[in-house]
Formats: sequence, structure tokens, C-alpha cells
Amino acid sequence: MASNKLKIGLIGCGMVANIGHLPAYHESPYAEIWAISDPLKAHLKKVQNLYNVPKTYEDPNDLIDDPDIDAISICSPHWAHAEQAMRAANNGLNIICEKPLGTSLKEVDRMINVVEKNKIVFQTATQKRFDLGFQYIKEKIVEKEIGDVFHASVFWYHSMPDLGRNPRKDLIQEIGMWRLSDNRCGGGDLLDHGPHYFDLFRWWFGDVKDVSAKIRRINENRVNEDHSMVLLSFKENEATAIFERSEAFFGGVYGEEMGRVHGTEGTYYFDVPNEYKRKPSKITLFSRQNKLAKPSKKKISFSKDAGDLAYAREIRTFVNRVLGRSNEDVGFPLDWVPTIYDGRAGLEIVLASYESQRLNKVIDLPLQEYKPIDW
Ligand SMILES: NC(=O)c1ccc[n+]([C@@H]2O[C@H](COP(=O)([O-])OP(=O)(O)OC[C@H]3O[C@@H](n4cnc5c(N)ncnc54)[C@H](O)[C@@H]3O)[C@@H](O)[C@H]2O)c1
Repeated sequence: MASNKLKIGLIGCGMVANIGHLPAYHESPYAEIWAISDPLKAHLKKVQNLYNVPKTYEDPNDLIDDPDIDAISICSPHWAHAEQAMRAANNGLNIICEKPLGTSLKEVDRMINVVEKNKIVFQTATQKRFDLGFQYIKEKIVEKEIGDVFHASVFWYHSMPDLGRNPRKDLIQEIGMWRLSDNRCGGGDLLDHGPHYFDLFRWWFGDVKDVSAKIRRINENRVNEDHSMVLLSFKENEATAIFERSEAFFGGVYGEEMGRVHGTEGTYYFDVPNEYKRKPSKITLFSRQNKLAKPSKKKISFSKDAGDLAYAREIRTFVNRVLGRSNEDVGFPLDWVPTIYDGRAGLEIVLASYESQRLNKVIDLPLQEYKPIDW
């Protein structure tokens, strides 16, 4: 071996690999991008040239079976995650896997068995926990800076074009439009985006008690939903959260992403820049010195260094965990790292939301039965 750095294999050289995983590994003094895999030659070539990657594989199984690799990033479409993760875990590879971990709880439970049996490091790639602003909110909830938290609310949309009933095949592959057109996804926009905030809500508020949702397919050219409102209630404090998410809105190309966390003594407002802008979230705290005082407003600022952005801190943490290093350089406690069980819980909330829409009722967790919505 030319170096003693961690040898990373990355599967699926598309959007999230390029904006998140690859630049972070490239910057790491402890890891090297050793191999990449993608069925699309153009994507392989682009990443190979950009990062000077020694090995490329069109078949992801060949990468997973490469004996030189220590750890992998799974950045393929949803339906490929579980089988790739199980094969990798059986080969003893450490894994960071994109959300959603799978498309059914059954396959994620199989993943959990294989991961437990092989005692590998596994991390669910819900990187929003690593955003300095969201970590700040978590720390301050623990300190009770805003008293007892009782409600969170998120409004998040992307304005997506209508590509018609049969979108061009090159667009599907080139710009990830399988999301809108491929039945293997197991869900639509909520499955794609819900796992992020369902993960944050659980991290901030604890376990979810029940789920109710209204979910629509506004654009009928899509195979699944593109517009969702989900209401969660939590076991602790009778807290609630609303998640409003859409790809059916007209608006700015990159949309908007903002929200609030309310406590008995204050509120955090957050405004999240689009991922391509590579900036931390903006957090504003509204509180009162005492019950009679006017609310005061405080803006909280965070490091803008590339190495302190959410994806970078997520990958730096994964590398530290695989190497058995302390995570002090990242400043993120290891017991807050999203586990495979957190990934399963996020998926369970998405599927409970679908079930709530299908049956038109509130669904208690744990989810007992699930049938996909027939759009
Ligand atoms: N954490 C985040 O914020 C975030 C952001 C975007 C996407 N994601 C997740 O990452 C995954 C990929 O999304 P994307 O937006 O990067 O999609 P993408 O289409 O841009 O990239 C996926 C890549 O995987 C390749 N591919 C297709 N089938 C494959 C297979 N069976 N094995 C290996 N590679 C395969 C495609 O050719 C493509 O290059 C999705 O599960 C998505 O939910 C997460």
C-alpha cells in the first residue's frame, strides 16, 4: 500500500457524493478516496478525474469485494442501499449509508441483523445533526435555555419542473430524476426529505408517539407524492412537530427551508441555506429576560469554514470512528452520531405518514402494518 490512510470506496457518484462525501474525504488527512463505483461511465470519469481516484468499478459489487477497502460511502438511489450495505457488512467494511436506509422496515431490519453480527461501524447519513446551528439547538435544549420545548415547525420546499409522464432517460440518470419517475423508490418527496427532520425532531424531542399526515400527488406525472404535511406527537412533554414539505410549489429554484423550535421561555428560528451554497444555518433566539419584559432577539453566528459545514463534520466523524480516534477535533459527541436504529426510526415515521394518509387516521408507533399508497 502506498499510504497508511483509510481506504474509502464510494458507491454512486451523483449529487450527494459530489456535494457532500467526496470533498470531505478529499480534505481528510486520515483518508483517501481509493475506489468509486457507478453504472454511469460519465459520472465515474468525472469523479475519477477530479480526485485522481486509483480504481473505478461499474458494478458496485466489485467495489464492495475489493479487499483493499476499509470503509464505504453508499450514495446510490434508495432501493440499492440495503443490499449493498449487507454485502459490505458481511465483507467487514465500515459503512456510512445515505438516507433513507432502505425502502421497507423489513429490509432495514435485515440490515440491522447483518451489521450487528459483523460488529462494523455504521453511520446513517442524516448530516443535519452536524450542522453547527442544529447542534447548538440540541445543546441548548439539553441546557433548557428556552425552558421546556413543546413544538417545532418546519417549512421546506424545492420548486421542481414537470418533466412529463416519461422524462428523458438522460435526465433521469444525469440529474437524479429517478426520484420522480422510478417505482423502485418506495416513496416520493417525503421519503427523500422527511428522514432529515424526523431525525432532528427525535434528537431534540425524543421518541415519537403518533403520526398523522395529509399527503398529495399534485403533479400526476410523478409516480409518488410531491406534497406532504406531517404532524408528530412525542412521548415527552406532549410536544408536537409539524413538517410541511413540497416539490409542488412555485418559487425560487432552490426553494426555501426554515423553521422554529418553541419552548416555554423562548424560540429558536432557523433559516437553512441551500446545500449548494455551502453555508451554515442562521439561528435567531427570541426570549425574555423576565415574564414582563419585551422579547429580545439575538442572532447566533457559526464558523463558515468549509471543514465546519454539516457534510464535512459528518464525514470527519465517520473517519474518526472507523479509526477509533476521539472526535474532539469535530466537536460532536459520539453518542449523538446517527445510528442505524436512528435511520430505521426516520423511515418508520415516513411509512407511518403514508399509512396515515392511506387509512385517514392517526397512526401509533411502533408501526404495526404498512401498505404502499396506490397513487
Ligand atoms: N444527505 C442528504 O442531504 C442527501 C442529499 C441528496 C441525496 N441523498 C440521498 O443519496 C442517495 C443518492 O441521491 P443523489 O441525489 O446523489 O442521486 P444521483 O442520481 O445524483 O446520484 C446517484 C448515483 O448513483 C448511480 N447509481 C444508480 N444506480 C446505482 C446502483 N444500483 N448502484 C450504484 N450506483 C447507482 C447513478 O448513476 C448516480 O450517479 C439517495 O438515496 C438520496 O436520498 C441524501
